[in-house]
Amino acid sequence: ESSTEIDISAIQPGQAIKAVFRKQPVFIRNLTKEEIASAEKVDVSSLRDPQSLEERTKEGKTNWLITMGVCTHLGCVPLGAGEGEVKGEFGGYFCPCHGSSYDTAARIRKGPAPKNLEVPPYEFASDTVVKIG
Ligand code: FES
Repeated sequence: ESSTEIDISAIQPGQAIKAVFRKQPVFIRNLTKEEIASAEKVDVSSLRDPQSLEERTKEGKTNWLITMGVCTHLGCVPLGAGEGEVKGEFGGYFCPCHGSSYDTAARIRKGPAPKNLEVPPYEFASDTVVKIG
C-alpha cells in the first residue's frame, strides 16, 4: 500500500504545504480566487506544456492544486510551499537550481524545465482528506 492520506482542513486559501508521496515531496495548495483567475486567463495554447487548470484539478475543486514537488528539469524541490512569498514571477513555484518559474497552476512558464509539475494520481476521500496514490 503506497498511498498517502493527508488532512487538508487546515490549509487556508493562499497556503501550500509539503507532504511526502513515494519518498518524494508533494505540494498541496489551496488557491485563492485571484490565483484561480490568474491561471484561467492564460491562453493554454501559448504554454510550453499546454494544460488548463481544470485539467490539472478535480471538478468542483479547482482551488486544490496537488502536484509533485519535483522540478521537471533536473529534479530539485521548487520553493513556494511553506516558504512564504517565494513563488517566483508567475506566482506559483520557483526552482532556485536553474531558475524555472511555475504559475499558479504549477505550469512551467520560464526557465529550463520542459514540463509542468506532475499531478500525481489522487482522490478526495472526503472534503477534508486527500488520498494520493
Ligand atoms: Fe529546477 Fe533545474 S532543477 S530549474
